[in-house]
Amino acid sequence: MKKIVLSMLLASIGLVASEGTVPYKSGLLLPPQADKIYEKECTHCHGKDGKQTGFEGSSRVTYSEIAGMDTAEVAKTLKEYRGGVKSKDYQQLNKYGYGALMRSVTADLSWDEIDAVAKYVNGLK
Ligand code: HEC
Repeated sequence: MKKIVLSMLLASIGLVASEGTVPYKSGLLLPPQADKIYEKECTHCHGKDGKQTGFEGSSRVTYSEIAGMDTAEVAKTLKEYRGGVKSKDYQQLNKYGYGALMRSVTADLSWDEIDAVAKYVNGLK
């Protein structure tokens, strides 16, 4: 019996430890890790440096560089893509005609994560 209790205890410690390696997850009160969010959610379209303005192999979809953009402006823009700020008219932001792409990216981000990643974008050179 003691053995069982001990192994259950160890298993739960293991669980807690592995939770700690999750970079971010909405609903958990972990501080958002902007660098990891950016790398996972943004680099393949905006590049590591925020200067990519289109998709590789496609010249049809183009947009502006985001590196160094004002933090508040990025946060507001991301929230509008997500549909939160302008929800009164149920119209998401669509600056270049591809707002739906940004909508799908931002849909899973919390307000805190958006604020954190906005600051990160502002710091890109
Ligand atoms: C699937 C590709 C893709 C991913 C991933 C992506 N973006 Fe975008 N992003 C776009 C496109 C396309 C636009 C232009 C949308 C439009 O037409 O309004 C855009 C627009 C933007 C803009 C507005 C630029 C401007 O000129 O105002 C910002 C800011 C931005 N993205 C930030 C981010 C951030 C931060 C992430 C990661 C959380 C991200 N994007 C992930 C494709 C992407």
